[in-house]
Amino acid sequence: MYVCLCKGVTCSAIRSAVSEQGVGSLRELSRNLGVATQCGKCAHSARQVLNEALGACTATNGCGTSNEAAA
Ligand code: FES
Repeated sequence: MYVCLCKGVTCSAIRSAVSEQGVGSLRELSRNLGVATQCGKCAHSARQVLNEALGACTATNGCGTSNEAAA
């Protein structure tokens, strides 16, 4: 499902950014994928997907991300 229509970013792209690129905050997500850099309407949804992905990574101890955004 698309989270950010302006940049064409999907949930799976956000999860991949967390697990493969070590993205750990909305700021990093914006920098890497462009999420929330235009209209900004996706910021809340993007943060939710990000936090879910970070939780999954923490639970499985699989991606070594910082938990900056999860706090
Ligand atoms: Fe993400 Fe507009 S929907 S910046």
